[in-house]
This record gives sequence, C-alpha cells and structure tokens, in this order.
Amino acid sequence: MFQNSSLFLFLSLLLWSACETPAPAGGTLLQSPGAVNTIAFQLTERGAPSYRVLHGTETIIEDSQLGFELQGQAPLAEGFEVVTSEQSSSDETWEMPWGEQRTVRNHYNELVVELRESAPPQRGLKLYFRAYDDGVALRYEVLAQAGVDSLVITDERTDFQLTGDHTAWWIPGDWDIYEHLYNTTKVSEIDALSKRGHPNLAQSTIPLYAVNTPDTLRTESGTHLSNPEANLTDYAGMTLVVDTAKLAFRSGLVGSERRGYKVKRALPFQTPWRSIQIADRATELIASKLIVNLNEPNQLEDISWFEPKKYVGIWWEMHVDKASWDYGMTLDKDGKWVDTGVAHGRHGATTENTKRYIDFAAANNIGGVLVEGWNTGWERWIGFEDREGVFDFVTPYPDYDIEELSRYAQSKGVEIIMHHETSAAPRTYAQQLDTAYQLMNRLGIHSVKTGYVGKLIPAGEYHHGQWMVNHYRQVLETGARYQVAINAHEPIKATGLRRTFPNAISREGLRGQEFNAWAADGGNPPEHLPIVAFTRMLAGPIDFTPGVFDIGLPTKPDNQINTTLAQQLALYVVIYSPIQMACDLPENYVNQDAFQFIRDVGVDWEQSRVLNGEVGDFVTIAREERETGHWFVGGITDENAREIRLDFDFLPAGKNYAATIYKDAPDAHYRDNPRAVAIDKLRVKRGDQQVLALAPGGGFAISLLVED
Ligand code: NOJ
Ligand code: CA
Repeated sequence: MFQNSSLFLFLSLLLWSACETPAPAGGTLLQSPGAVNTIAFQLTERGAPSYRVLHGTETIIEDSQLGFELQGQAPLAEGFEVVTSEQSSSDETWEMPWGEQRTVRNHYNELVVELRESAPPQRGLKLYFRAYDDGVALRYEVLAQAGVDSLVITDERTDFQLTGDHTAWWIPGDWDIYEHLYNTTKVSEIDALSKRGHPNLAQSTIPLYAVNTPDTLRTESGTHLSNPEANLTDYAGMTLVVDTAKLAFRSGLVGSERRGYKVKRALPFQTPWRSIQIADRATELIASKLIVNLNEPNQLEDISWFEPKKYVGIWWEMHVDKASWDYGMTLDKDGKWVDTGVAHGRHGATTENTKRYIDFAAANNIGGVLVEGWNTGWERWIGFEDREGVFDFVTPYPDYDIEELSRYAQSKGVEIIMHHETSAAPRTYAQQLDTAYQLMNRLGIHSVKTGYVGKLIPAGEYHHGQWMVNHYRQVLETGARYQVAINAHEPIKATGLRRTFPNAISREGLRGQEFNAWAADGGNPPEHLPIVAFTRMLAGPIDFTPGVFDIGLPTKPDNQINTTLAQQLALYVVIYSPIQMACDLPENYVNQDAFQFIRDVGVDWEQSRVLNGEVGDFVTIAREERETGHWFVGGITDENAREIRLDFDFLPAGKNYAATIYKDAPDAHYRDNPRAVAIDKLRVKRGDQQVLALAPGGGFAISLLVED
C-alpha cells in the first residue's frame, strides 16, 4: 500500500494545469513501481469514472470515460460515488514452461476503486487499474445486483482519448478473421471499412469503423504504444472503434445477430483487461511480458507431455496445388462417405507419403509431422453452405493407416501432429471433441492444429464473439484433460491465456505463409513481417510456418515468396512459437547447405534479446536456447536493403562459439534473386562485431554453438 501525498499534489498540479477546467475533487494517482507510468483516476462532475495515463510527463491518454450500455437497464456509466479506493503492490517471478524466456517478473502497483450509484438502484462497479513500468491496464468488475441474475451488455464504453495524430499500424476490426495486411496511416486516416469484402478471405465481417487489437501507435515524440487485450474469458473480443476526428478509440465488442447481444454474464463478473503497452523504443514492445502477466498462473498440473518442437508436414503440397486434402469420396444417401472408385489419385495424406515425412523428420532433428487431409469430409469443405456433421475427426480415409503410422512415427522418435479442420462448424466439432481427443490420447498424439475456415455456422455468430470465445476455451480445456495441446488457425486472438493454459501452444491469427502461395494480391509484401513483429506478435506465439526454400513456387506461376531465403531462416528466431514448421516439401531441402540452420535452430528459449528494430522496417532478435546455451540470431528487413551492425555483447564472457552466418549474397533480392545465400563460418565471442548487409526483402540467421 502506498500513498504519497506530496507526489500526488505535484502530479495533480502537473496533470490538471494543462486543462481548461479545474480538477474535480477526489482524483487518485497510481504510479508504476519505477515511477515510469502513471494512471490518474477521478469521477467527473456527473459521477462518471474517468482515467488519464502519463508516461513520465508525456500524456498518453487524455481524460477518457469508462462504462457499459446494457439491455433493459440504464447505462452503467455515471452517477457514481467512490465507496472505497485501495492501492497495493505486487512483485513475483514466475517460470514459463516453454517460452521466449524462462523467468518472467510481474511487478506492478494496483488501484481498486469500488463505485456505487448515489441514486437507486445503486448499482455497484469495481475498477481495477494496474501500473507497470512497461504499460498500464484496467478491467471492470460488475457487482451483484439485488434480484438480477445476469446482465446483457449491448456495448462497452471504454474510451482511449489519444493525444495526437499518431502513426498507426492496424488491421480492420474484422469480426471473423485477422488475416489482413497491416496498414500504416495516421490515426486520422484510418479507413477500416475500405477493407471489406477481401477476395482472399473465406469469411470476413467488418461492421464497425474499427481496428482489431493489438494495433501499434507511435507518437510524435517517438513513444510507442500498443493496445492488446488480456485474459479474454467468457466475453466478446474487443475491437477499437476509431473516431478519426477526435483521434480517439472506443471499445467495440463483437456482436451476434443470432443472440441479439454482445455479452451475457451472470453477476458478479470481471471483464478482460484493457491494456496499453508503453515503450520508449519499438524494441521494448517485443520484450514486454505485460499480456501474460495480466493472466492467471498456470492451472494445468502436469504438462510434461508436450515438448516444444520443429515439425514438417503434409501441408505445403496442398497450398501449392501438388496434392489435395480430399480423397475423392462420395456421400451416399444415408449420409455416409463411401469409396465409389472415383478417387482422383492426388490425395496427399497417404500412409506412404506420411512415412516419407516421418523418415525425413527423424533424419533432420525435427520432432513432429503434421498430416492434413487424413480424415473424411474434405469433399464438402470450402464453398458448401451446409457443413454441419460433415467432418469426422476419428475416421481416416481408406489410404491412411492411422494405427500403423502412429506406431511407425513412435519407432522413429517422431510425433504425429493431428489436424482438425472444423470448417467453421464448431457444434459438430464440440460433439466429437471427447472421442477425437480420446483417440489422440490412445495413439500418443499430443498436439492438434485446429481450423475454422468459412462463415460460422450457425449464421449470425462470428469467430470473435462471446459464443466462439467460449468454444475456443472449451477446446483448450478439453485438450488439457486429454493431454492435447492446441495450435488454432482462424482462432480467437491471443490474450496471454498461455500463462494459465500452457497447452495453448500457438495459433495463426494473421496472414501466414500460405497467402504467399495463393493470394490474388501477390502475397505478403516484404514489410509484412517487420510490422507483424511489433503488432500481432505482441499478443503471443505465431504459427507462421516459415522455411520455404523453393521461393519461386514453380507450380504457382502467379505467386512467389516475397522474401529472400536468408530471411526465411531468420524467421525461426524472429517469430516466437514453441512449434516451428519447416514448411517446404522435403525434396526442396535435399542438398541445401542452408538447411543446416533449420536442423540446428532451437525452439525453446532461456532468454531473448531484441537487439534493434523499427516498426515496419527491420528487427533483429537473439535468443539463447534452454539447456544447451547455444544462441541463435535472426534479422529481417522490409523492401529496403540495409546494413545491421551486430555487437555480440549478449554472449556471456569467456566462452567461444562456433558461428555459422547465413546471409543474403551481395546480389540477392527478394524479387529476382531470392535464393542467393552466402554461408560463413567463424569463431565468435563476446565483444566481437559483424556488419551484415541485408538485401531488399532479406535477412540473416546466425547459429552460435557453444564450443568451450
Ligand atoms: C487454413 C489454415 O490456415 C491452413 O494452414 C490449413 O491448411 C487450411 N485452413 C486447411 O485446414
Ligand atoms: Ca488461415
């Protein structure tokens, strides 16, 4: 508990001296432990809760109000009095079972304000504010009301009044999918609705003039802000409705025409955290652990059944049109899939092909093999209205021997990764969850990639609404019961729940590598990942699926990967995920010297250092592998060539490392010479330096294996 009255007076004067109106009485200040960030809470003259945020003396958020619009009740937004106001401090260190670093410090000061309406019905609201040195957060608790069991929220009114026309990196506030390219504009120029109806997306709903979180902002003075949300539990996902004239955001919850409301909760309940990461430099955004710190500790007891791993899979061959997911079965009149002899012979997930991938993984220090298209139902996937009851998550196609393959994989020390494409029919999936996960458990398969491609069934629900948030949670909790870890595609966004449920190992939730294979707009431009590292990646692990070596995509004349090969290697370090795919066809790795990096690179880290970077331009990250002490470094650039000076100061003193540097050859260019990679071997120690020249769309990757 701390309450420094002279500091309060000083900051109050500072805060309110700039205002035209005098400060209302009853304000409370909350400072972060290192006095870096300050939250000022007050009730306005109308009794509306309002907050302001400072970073040093720079105002980050001007007076902004808080509240709810409700069905059948007046808005819960003003007419309040403060009942109690308490501050406390917390400082704990916890361990990530796998992650970007082993230990995380969770150090903050908290203010809890209980409010009650002064007039009947005297409804109560508690506000929780947390001030960290790397950001601030707030959440609501709606208190019990006499004679009322549950509340229906039609919208949340959490305002973020910005203090300038910041540069913003944003994707539209789509209710179904996050697979959009990032835009770089001033806040006043955000044009979210122009992204409606994207031809590459099987589902996309953008009803509000809003952006999705995390968005990232840079103020005129160079302060970086990002708005993730944390601990999204039994609530609708939050987008940020943009007021381009006032330069303000307001929470815009994802709704549902089927249910007619956005959130329904039994009283009392707490909302997710609304947080703002605040950093002097872009690199500090990536280093921040604010989002996981805002979640509850690990609830799963034994998680030793999952181990971080690299994987290959029957996947890219479908995206580059060399094979199909479906076998070519026919649905008979009783609704059963039968083999009527019309199979087209292009089916990828055959026993023989899977064994080829298992052998390849076993020979190359790769622990997993993903198999997509192993189960019946793919004949009625994209483009079919009625997909309920179609996919079956326990019945393999006739040419896929699931028992034999599990045995074979185990004998080679490799684990199969299950695949469940739900085709956005979550009720069908939920009905089969137990049997599907029982099967996995029996076969010793401990992770599944799920998918939700298409318009949600039932109609009127959206991927990011409360109903689906609860579905994704059910999958996570059921998975935990059967020792199954989840890598969701077309997911709900990451909000740091991996702290509580470490079996939330990874997810998509962005335009992944696959867009390079088939997007009508030519795929992800070179600036995509230098933006993703400072936006989407702040939310949590990404299953981006790097590692394309055959960058020209010979089977796809209109597409190519818009990076150099050296950048594909760098992504294993730059993008964090405890599962990392080597996504290209095994034959494309044969006799490639650069593949040694993928064999060597770690997936689980003792510590990570973000060495340099600017949003949308470039970023370099170094990570130390757990147990071995080996270090790996990855650096990527956008469409501009640039030189990066690397100081090996992050290495411990007194140790020598055998370094292999994989870099763009002098004539490399993502467009017409992407595969030109140069490989240097040298010995490196702390204090050494290297200057690396990155090609347009290029990058570099370095392995530093401990010698002595
Ligand atoms: C979309 C996923 O992102 C992709 O990786 C997968 O191959 C397809 N859905 C099929 O499930
Ligand atoms: Ca996808």
